[in-house]
Amino acid sequence: IDALLAEGVEGKRVFVRADLNVPLADGTITDDGRIRAVLPTVKALADAGAKVVVASHLGRPKGAPDPAFSLLPAAERLGELLGAPVAFAQDTVGPAAHDAVDGLQPGQIAVIENLRFNAGETAKDDAERGAFADRLAALADVYVGDGFGAVHRKHASVFDLPARLPHYAGYLIATEVGVLKKLTDDVKRPYAVALGGAKVSDKLGVIDHLLERADRILIGGGMAYTFLKAQGHEVGISLLQEDQIPAVKEYLKRAEDKGVEFVLPVDVLVSPDFPDLKTKAPANPTTVAADAIPADQEGLDIGPETRKLYASKLSDAATVFWNGPMGVFEHPDYAEGTKAVAQALLDSPAFTVVGGGDSAAAVRTLGFDENAFGHISTGGGASLEYLEGKTLPGLAALEN
Ligand code: 3PG
Repeated sequence: IDALLAEGVEGKRVFVRADLNVPLADGTITDDGRIRAVLPTVKALADAGAKVVVASHLGRPKGAPDPAFSLLPAAERLGELLGAPVAFAQDTVGPAAHDAVDGLQPGQIAVIENLRFNAGETAKDDAERGAFADRLAALADVYVGDGFGAVHRKHASVFDLPARLPHYAGYLIATEVGVLKKLTDDVKRPYAVALGGAKVSDKLGVIDHLLERADRILIGGGMAYTFLKAQGHEVGISLLQEDQIPAVKEYLKRAEDKGVEFVLPVDVLVSPDFPDLKTKAPANPTTVAADAIPADQEGLDIGPETRKLYASKLSDAATVFWNGPMGVFEHPDYAEGTKAVAQALLDSPAFTVVGGGDSAAAVRTLGFDENAFGHISTGGGASLEYLEGKTLPGLAALEN
């Protein structure tokens, strides 16, 4: 983007593909981290006199307009954060979008409606995506890719549109890629990784990558129970992916062969009931050893001994990557495990990266100062796929 600014953008229509896919509860944004992350790019372009057209997806609507997924709340928040008026177009490539863009003066900003209200955005068919990209291209003179959270999607606005316009990477993408490179190219050891979240199946690729690079892998969250089961323990009614047990067994074996330390919970908080996340009524969990989960109970967070163990395993690392909450952090009775890992990252002098929408949201909603962390990635799937070494369509398109 610095090259673009040096060339000059005064009066040019610049399409910024952002990732404003923020969590919403009853129409209210519960975490605006992704909107704040794109501010430097939007501000720099507006200050340089560009007519800035901001676009994003939100949620997974079915290729047609759906008010539940309108980008309007995100556009309003963008305006508040910028302290400047932001126009909003109620369609994406139709007359409203053209009117909004035509009405921009240099330095002004418009947000167009959710890209995924159009089937062409996510179409598998190249021609269908291309046709939609053509319509998007009619709105702009230049493309700036800054939606890091979506670069792993081969979607029209991410992959096909940059091929149709002069294209540049925004500040957020440049920062994210710079940080993730430090976890892949020349990582400082010891390299410790804490992985959580619900499903092992979402983490297979990244575990594969980490077995070649990490010194220590700590497992928490719902996926821990599949690991415990693979080790021969009963896990009661905890989250379990039976079909992943063979893969997990293979990982445990490979880790042993390679001298990578897999660290599993030694105790967990259990309850017969999943907590009420709306009322947050007290859940009164019990702490049990990880190899003694009662048959009628579900593990919902790592226990106090595991918290201490994980903090110590993270404390002497030179590089730490954390992805995924350790428990059902949305309920205060099950937030301590996730808090302990966040605190261990803060206490560590290591280069620390928090990756993934859920862990980033956890850090902020649990009241931590996000600026105190080395780097909080705005990418969930995107940062994991980057670490897996996959070619990410949105980055490839910008490099071409
Ligand atoms: C994310 O939340 O990870 C990105 O915004 C991508 O969203 P998607 O998984 O719906 O493509």
